[in-house]
Amino acid sequence: MELSDPHGLIGLTPSQLDAYWMPSTGNRQFKADPRIFVSAHGRHYRDAQGRSIFDGLSGLWTCGLGHGRTQITKAVSDQVAAMDFSPPFQFGHRLAFQLAEQVVSFMPAGLDRVFFVGSGSEAADTSLKIARAYWRLRGQASKTRFIGRAKGYHGVSFGGISVGGIVGNRKIYGEGITVDHLSHTLVPGNEFCRGMPENGADLADQLLELIALHDASNIAAVIVEPWAGSAGIIVPPKGYLQRLRQICTDHQILLIFDEVITAFGRSGAWTAAEAFGVTPDILNFAKQVTNGAIPMGGIVTTRAIQQTFLDAGGPHYAIELPHGHTYSAHPVACAAGLVTLDLLRQESATEQVNAIAPAFERAVHSLRGAPHVTDIRNFGLAAGITLAAMPGEPARRPFEVALDCWRQGFYVRFGADTLQLAPPFGSTAGELDALTNAIGEALQRQP
Ligand SMILES: Cc1ncc(COP(=O)(O)O)c(C=O)c1O
Repeated sequence: MELSDPHGLIGLTPSQLDAYWMPSTGNRQFKADPRIFVSAHGRHYRDAQGRSIFDGLSGLWTCGLGHGRTQITKAVSDQVAAMDFSPPFQFGHRLAFQLAEQVVSFMPAGLDRVFFVGSGSEAADTSLKIARAYWRLRGQASKTRFIGRAKGYHGVSFGGISVGGIVGNRKIYGEGITVDHLSHTLVPGNEFCRGMPENGADLADQLLELIALHDASNIAAVIVEPWAGSAGIIVPPKGYLQRLRQICTDHQILLIFDEVITAFGRSGAWTAAEAFGVTPDILNFAKQVTNGAIPMGGIVTTRAIQQTFLDAGGPHYAIELPHGHTYSAHPVACAAGLVTLDLLRQESATEQVNAIAPAFERAVHSLRGAPHVTDIRNFGLAAGITLAAMPGEPARRPFEVALDCWRQGFYVRFGADTLQLAPPFGSTAGELDALTNAIGEALQRQP
């Protein structure tokens, strides 16, 4: 068997490498130099060469509790054996209802109705569809327009890329849905801010300008990540989310928080809504809800919003919300979710995050002054490091630095002009220092 592997160790043939069109990946570069994980335990992966790799992004913001948690593994295998699938439409299984109640117990007061989907992207589209349908059912069918935010990320479906504000994810796909964007909140003067920046709350007032332009009677919802993850940890200025909330309330516009990254511990609270003291009308989640072991996402909303659908539902047997997925509330995902939420509580994940966050903050901000670093931001157990562009190649330096880290035994995420870090909740100060030292060394080697 012919191997495309300089070390003869990755165990894949060239035709296998070619057959898989990898998502959000530089396929040409990857296949010339594959990075293959073969196992994961605790805070480390093992790669095909047998090296131990520290997981600097908890998988993909998914595995805060660390990898290979036996309780989750057992729940998943037991559930596959007991009932591998259950149709989510018109029939139910107990775990879905139990998990919904558990999810609610992690939410701010008032958010107590859960709709399950299979991913963060599906959660984004679900929240947008519910917002539009809600206004229509309330007799305000002209409220269809959405407001997103520059540098926002809401997954890759047409709804999500429309409200999203990362140009690379949208520019080749043509028309989306009707959307305006608020500015992002990376304000000059806030560089190297630890936690929430002081300046920029007034940017929320741009929503008033959009209302003046379109009229609130045409706007369904505003969707933002409370702190933006994929664009490199953009933390809201003090008072910004409160202002958005107030304007939405005053003008009868729904506020959606996309908490696919921020919920279930990473913000140092069970939700970023709780961390910032602002409750949205709809909150989207995914990732950490199953510790990444099985795909799952969902939205949580108020009983008043759900009641609108029930009241307008027509005959008692009719479907009130014609929306859902084959894998909504998949029993295996629900089993993983129930154990994950138990573990998050038992292990006091938010306390773990808050205990290690100061050491993490010190470690990442120690990179201030390292070559090419133009900004560092952090919140909870997440940080973004912006790097100066190479001439004509804005996305290259983070990629090169991340590859250097990989060679040193650290997995960090790179995207556009940033590196992103989100280590597992149980990380030690020593591990975090080692992670940032590896980044520092990689930066020193950069031309
Ligand atoms: C805030 C946010 N929303 C939505 C998504 C999309 O989730 P998925 O990749 O599960 O579709 C992500 C993924 O990183 C995300 O960070």
